[in-house]
Amino acid sequence: MARILTPQIGRRTVVGGLASTAAMLVLPRAPVTAANLPLIPTPAQTTGPFYPVDWLGDADNDLVRVHGEPARAMGQVAHVAGRVLDASGAPVSGASVEIWQCDNNGRYRHPGDRRGSPRDSGFQGRGRAVTGADGGYSFRTIRPVPYPGRTPHIHFAIITSARQLVTQMYVAGEPLNEGDFLLNRIRDPRQRESVLVLLEPADRLEPGALAGTFDIVIASSE
Ligand SMILES: [Fe+2]
Repeated sequence: MARILTPQIGRRTVVGGLASTAAMLVLPRAPVTAANLPLIPTPAQTTGPFYPVDWLGDADNDLVRVHGEPARAMGQVAHVAGRVLDASGAPVSGASVEIWQCDNNGRYRHPGDRRGSPRDSGFQGRGRAVTGADGGYSFRTIRPVPYPGRTPHIHFAIITSARQLVTQMYVAGEPLNEGDFLLNRIRDPRQRESVLVLLEPADRLEPGALAGTFDIVIASSE
């Protein structure tokens, strides 16, 4: 799990009293020590066929609510937060973090996804955040669900002025992980652990919600 990848950062607790991601705080952060450097780079993964075709309209970091839609997204709310760091442990501020995932019916917000289940119009499908001075980002989304051929996952793209990383986040303890062809392409056990995120009950953040920490390590710009 991510906490094994980054013990120097330590497991962090997302706290807050409101559903809004604006209320999310991430505490505390243990210092990166020389003994833990360099950090293990987060592995690159395929973008897949359903990268969003547009970022128009509501594309913020709350995927559970869509402007103009009366109903919130179906599924279990999951707060996913973390930091973008370089291999030296320094926070990467100002990075664009994009996520996209299927809705609770297993459908992507993408014209190429014509599978049978109706799309959940209450799910935003994709969202963007920009990392702060501490490299932090956060999203309010749903716990990813499986679709034919894939274990639950959330696609991530991290874009800085120097480089771009595309990867995927998986749910630690998910039984389908063992047979997932893309997750199994990650041969290095430390890198595999780095993309497995434990989603734990976070009722104090939002009743019935889950929360997890996904720190992302990108190579330093040269
Ligand atoms: Fe996917």
